[in-house]
Amino acid sequence: MKIDARLFDSLVADYQQRVDTALDHWLPPADVNPVRLHQAMRYAVLAPGKRVRPILVYATAAALGIDPQRVDGAACAVEIIHAYSLIHDDLPAMDDDDLRRGRPTCHREFDEATAILAGDSLQALAFYIISHDSAMTPDAAARLQMIEKLSLFSGSRGMAGGQAIDLAAVGKSLNIAELETMHIHKTGALIRTCIQLAALSTDALDDTQLQALDSYAKSIGLSFQVQDDILDVTGDTETLGKMQGADSARNKPTYPSIIGLQASQEKALDLHQNALQALSIFGEEADILRYISAWFVERRN
Ligand code: IPE
Ligand code: IPE
Ligand code: MG
Ligand code: MG
Ligand code: MG
Repeated sequence: MKIDARLFDSLVADYQQRVDTALDHWLPPADVNPVRLHQAMRYAVLAPGKRVRPILVYATAAALGIDPQRVDGAACAVEIIHAYSLIHDDLPAMDDDDLRRGRPTCHREFDEATAILAGDSLQALAFYIISHDSAMTPDAAARLQMIEKLSLFSGSRGMAGGQAIDLAAVGKSLNIAELETMHIHKTGALIRTCIQLAALSTDALDDTQLQALDSYAKSIGLSFQVQDDILDVTGDTETLGKMQGADSARNKPTYPSIIGLQASQEKALDLHQNALQALSIFGEEADILRYISAWFVERRN
């Protein structure tokens, strides 16, 4: 698909709207018991996030010629896992944050127990969707592989493991390799999953193409968190929708705190170049993925 900046923006808006409709469908209604839990789940998921992960699922599908209906379920599943991770990330036992997506965090709006249970329930819901959505690939083995990827990359060997490393590192100085390991797990793993779930929706890809997509995913997964660390220094609370300066206030090792702001910005740009390089075997059908990589390092929220 040949695209320019305007078309990219409109595709992003379309994908955001598309996933919001699908999320609304899969989330339990707010008036069904237990009402407070369902309200908290909807509050956290439907809050105005960027929907970066679903956008990646849809964009990969578009680049590979896969019908978006095939990947609605995967798009919802990754966003729901992400929303659960944010609820738990903000809890007093973790980052102890009060503001998320421009609103009070889930445990602030509701209460801690409800927030913990909303996270638990969302994690389960993500897997329910992948096993249940009849519009996804009818290939049962592919569906099972999706469940395998999502569980592996969101669990202790992926995102949750990265969060454990993050919490153990508070107040400590990590070396670059340790910092990178933390980021690759806590953020990179789920971003990698987005592309893999889309790729599993077709059987038309060869190993070279799969490896190229995974290499792209690894680069942008890391650049996304490097930019998140940068924005904690250079952003402002209103644009971010979360408290600027929270990392330094809590003595978190981040890219800027360890290698400095300028080197962090260079690192993000290097990763963007690596991502473009990884896509070099693809033609203009992958331009949308190239735009996403640029967005990740240019974004202001
Ligand atoms: C924030 O993710 C947490 C990280 C993994 C850096 P996003 O920046 O995607 O947050 P939302 O979904 O737009 O709120
Ligand atoms: C969050 O990292 C990663 C996950 C939620 C898995 P951060 O703690 O840096 O995210 P923000 O800055 O609170 O969004
Ligand atoms: Mg955190
Ligand atoms: Mg946090
Ligand atoms: Mg952060």
